Amino acid sequence: MSDRKKVTLPALFRKVDSGKPITMLTCYDYPTAYFQEQACIDMILVGDSLGMTMLGYDSTLPVTMDDMIRHTQAVRRGAPMAWLIGDMPYMSYQSSVESAILNAGRFMAEAGCDAIKLEGGAEMADRVEGITAAGIPAMGHLGLTPQSVSSLGGFRLQGKGALQAKKLLDDAKALEEAGAYAVLLELVPDRVCELITERAEECIIISLGAGPDAHGQLLIYHDMFGLYPKFKPRMAKVFGQADKVIQDGLNRYVEEVENKVFPEKEHYFGIKDEEYEQLLELIG
Ligand code: KIV
Repeated sequence: MSDRKKVTLPALFRKVDSGKPITMLTCYDYPTAYFQEQACIDMILVGDSLGMTMLGYDSTLPVTMDDMIRHTQAVRRGAPMAWLIGDMPYMSYQSSVESAILNAGRFMAEAGCDAIKLEGGAEMADRVEGITAAGIPAMGHLGLTPQSVSSLGGFRLQGKGALQAKKLLDDAKALEEAGAYAVLLELVPDRVCELITERAEECIIISLGAGPDAHGQLLIYHDMFGLYPKFKPRMAKVFGQADKVIQDGLNRYVEEVENKVFPEKEHYFGIKDEEYEQLLELIG
């Protein structure tokens, strides 16, 4: 285990003040969380994107609170020191402020989260207010919000027009005023992200495909290692071809088993001759 200190909210704001960008990744399982902890990733998001990346659904909508809690618990075990954010799944907060507070509370109590994230702008300000009043740090999510992909018309750039961009600025301010400690901007033009970041006072702005001028950057872990077979978004930089390493390994495994190359002597255990002789006698 690394000897890093626990990432706290004041530590995140200190990093922002220092001008050094915050690092953030998605994560859904224990071993990946362990690696991310070793790399000292500041913020880890257990995104409901796990519905697509881990469970193979076509969208995030079927993901339940129970799915989220189980994966988040595993991530917490692998990354005890990172700032851990649980992503509120579809319909865990949209219906009422009360449902939002109760489900945010589950993330904190059952999964050991440091914060939650929810999608939406001014219309979700009362949820953010309720959650933060309950002592739970809340992150907003604007731009391409996958839970509303149907009304957004697909996975595409948001805020291209001046009016739409102005609404993003207003939404970011509404979330900040409601108490959000951070806002994620997904697939928003770079200069819109820059404006929102400049105007943020007590709020950390994170970019996912929204350019370099936010306080920090987020990538979907599966995109950065080629681990999502259905598509690779343009905004994702590939930092390693894990898909190739895994596929080559699997192909070699099949070849070695079928050709009786694996297992080799060092991969299994013997029994002493005298024990074996006795065994043969025992079974006649
Ligand atoms: O679920 C998720 O991983 C997310 C990201 C797309 C930001 O919400």
